[in-house]
Amino acid sequence: MTALTASPAWQALKAHSRSTGRHHLRELFAREPERFSRFSLRLGDLLLDYSKHRITAETMELLLELARSADVEGWRDRMFTGSKINATEKRAVLHVALRNRSGRPILVDGSDVMPSIDAVLAKMHLFSEQVRNGAWRGSTGETITDVVNIGIGGSDLGPVMVCEALKPYQRPDLRPYFVSNVDGAHLTHTLAGLNPARTLFIVASKTFTTQETMTNAASARGWLTEALGEDAVAKHFVAVSTNAPEVARFGIDPANMFEFWDWVGGRYSLWSAVGLPIVLAVGFERFRELLEGAHEMDEHFQSAPLNQNMPVIMGLLGVWYRNFLGASTLALLPYDQHLSRFAAYFQQGDMESNGKSVRRDGNRVDYATGPVIWGEPGTNGQHAFFQLLHQGTELIPADFLAAVESQTPLSDHHDKLLANFLAQTEALAFGKAKDEVRDELAKEGLSEEALRTLMPHKVFEGNRPTTSLLYRKLTPHRLGSLIALYEHKIFVQGIIWEINSYDQWGVELGKELASRILPELQTDATVLDHDSSTNGLIKYVKWLRQG
Ligand code: F6P
Repeated sequence: MTALTASPAWQALKAHSRSTGRHHLRELFAREPERFSRFSLRLGDLLLDYSKHRITAETMELLLELARSADVEGWRDRMFTGSKINATEKRAVLHVALRNRSGRPILVDGSDVMPSIDAVLAKMHLFSEQVRNGAWRGSTGETITDVVNIGIGGSDLGPVMVCEALKPYQRPDLRPYFVSNVDGAHLTHTLAGLNPARTLFIVASKTFTTQETMTNAASARGWLTEALGEDAVAKHFVAVSTNAPEVARFGIDPANMFEFWDWVGGRYSLWSAVGLPIVLAVGFERFRELLEGAHEMDEHFQSAPLNQNMPVIMGLLGVWYRNFLGASTLALLPYDQHLSRFAAYFQQGDMESNGKSVRRDGNRVDYATGPVIWGEPGTNGQHAFFQLLHQGTELIPADFLAAVESQTPLSDHHDKLLANFLAQTEALAFGKAKDEVRDELAKEGLSEEALRTLMPHKVFEGNRPTTSLLYRKLTPHRLGSLIALYEHKIFVQGIIWEINSYDQWGVELGKELASRILPELQTDATVLDHDSSTNGLIKYVKWLRQG
């Protein structure tokens, strides 16, 4: 047993889960009519309702005790003050500095990082204004109308998600595109309708060595120079990276490089220069509001008592289901088309952070860590996978997110969207009991035999837990605070599980093997030094190519 699973806090939760965790939400709500006010929190117009969870006041007390014994507050303070909490990479974890609007300095190795952050923000501001007002021209003197971001993972998913979320704030004459996949189809289809003379490429890569990004960047460069010549690169390529020498080697003018730092994790980097496509798409002021929204959540996370702290509460609920009630996945279900990439974004955010099985001390965990994150926007999901949420055998906690006011009002669409959101969380929690189904079928005049056959299929057990996040409108500010909320939730869970949420060694082996296999695919020689399956697959690729 690890010290964590042997701890009194963990053991108390284990014992408690055998009783309370099995109670039905119907029972909990009947017993406590004031559950909503007891188990909900507000931050500005953002409401977190966690009353539809299989918890009691005692559950929350025990979970909070677990958070206290893991020293969540101490670790949080260490993160915000620049300690190198990413121990395996000996790095600070300071995405919070990127949106620090407090005026307080943040020190790494004794020096304040805020002046360099502000300098890069100022450079992004200036550049974006020049592109947006037409002062920045392409090599033939034309203005820029299309911006293609080339990046992958953390250098892609954040800007993709945010640009989609803030579509109502975009201008029709400056369109963002995103190319990530090394599959040539992605770049080919993206460039198909574009005019090189009016296209700006942002090559975004923290390391500037990522195979997919460098391959796409080289092909994009070829596409541009074929049309406009080598000299065009300076006006059509900018870079976002921590690696100035590699940027220069690629041929991008260092003056056109937007810097960030090794203490910004890729999946936490949209607040840095990685956010450049966002700034170009919606303007610097909107980006500033995004940062302010995140900062609001940072301040809340740092100052609210644990029992009124949104990220802490959400993190603890996740631990409750993962470690004590056996849930292995979490569904993120925004009832907001603008958040259609939210789940994809936090797939990386959560799974690359907490998909670990070795603790900070190097020993193996003896408990479950990060859940599988998945989801699609509502109401689409209802007509696809909700069947399993309602009647399947898995316990799947789900987060529902919705704005009360639509960004794109259209007759009564938004009321229908909200009605579905409310109906689903109600149906999942309370279901439809046998007696109700029996009465309904009896009213339809079914014979006793037909009724008995059909009834089990129409029963909804309910007791399926959900979190509801409701806010006035998906403004840049609110979006910033929602993203920061999930970031800190992931942090809280990583601390409780005693893992390092900020490295990602698990992605390396595949990269190594791919670079070994690439030359093997490019020669005619028979490849024999893998396992028989991989050898056989390589042979088959070559055989089909020859045919
Ligand atoms: O392979 C995973 C990863 O390293 C992510 O952590 C990162 O966000 C992504 O690749 C892209 O890396 P880079 O920004 O260095 O190209």
